[in-house]
Amino acid sequence: MPRHVAIIMDGNGRWASKHGENRSEGHLAGKESLRECCEYAVEKGIEYLSIFAFSTENWNRPADEVAQLMSLMASSVIGEMGTFRKNSIRFRMLGDRSAVPADVLGPIEEAERETASNTRLDLFVLFCYGGKWDIVNAAGKYGRQCYEAALRGEPCPSIDVDGFSRFLETAGVPDPDLLIRTGGEKRISNFLLWQCAYAEFYFTDILWPDFRKIQFQSALDSFAKRDRRYGQIK
Ligand code: IPE
Ligand code: IPE
Ligand code: MG
Repeated sequence: MPRHVAIIMDGNGRWASKHGENRSEGHLAGKESLRECCEYAVEKGIEYLSIFAFSTENWNRPADEVAQLMSLMASSVIGEMGTFRKNSIRFRMLGDRSAVPADVLGPIEEAERETASNTRLDLFVLFCYGGKWDIVNAAGKYGRQCYEAALRGEPCPSIDVDGFSRFLETAGVPDPDLLIRTGGEKRISNFLLWQCAYAEFYFTDILWPDFRKIQFQSALDSFAKRDRRYGQIK
């Protein structure tokens, strides 16, 4: 069983066109999949679930869709408080908080406070997130430490891979073991670039609103058959 599963929830728009609806219906339907996958992750004893909800590139979508995705985030975190409580899910947003509108950030931070002592699953919602942004932001934090050291007349503190990863949004969290992408595309779309260095990838044509417990189980079954060598010979 993977400790940490990451999901690129893709295909909402295509699901909507397939059903003769507009794209916003696809995003709404996707919310149901997410709830089901969270509950299944809890049931399966998965410790961390990271899901990609809005990328730094998604700002380039039409303004009305961006607005819908923003308000969906706000209404979902409020609406799912019962799910978080019932399943003891700790919610946290990972991403660029300075880019999130205040009326969306408010509910996000409230949910983070309210769920902080839950223990069964860490749910990370990557929102206004980009893997490149995460790495550059981390480098900036390290740069500031060097600057502060220089002001004290000290050398820049040395850094290694583990030290650098403590500046990333996922500080202290083990890297994803399994990365799932729904919707048929076979790319990473600027998701957890650093953190997926050794993730097992699982691509499926299933559109995100159709990805439910059974499909999640298929991904877990596929993961169970993988041979993880980490550069060694077995
Ligand atoms: C994924 O579905 C949701 C987000 C990116 C927010 P899409 O909206 O990308 O759906 P497709 O890829 O157009 O079908
Ligand atoms: C990736 O999906 C981002 C999220 C799921 C939030 P996109 O639909 O934005 O990815 P591309 O544009 O097909 O690479
Ligand atoms: Mg897409």
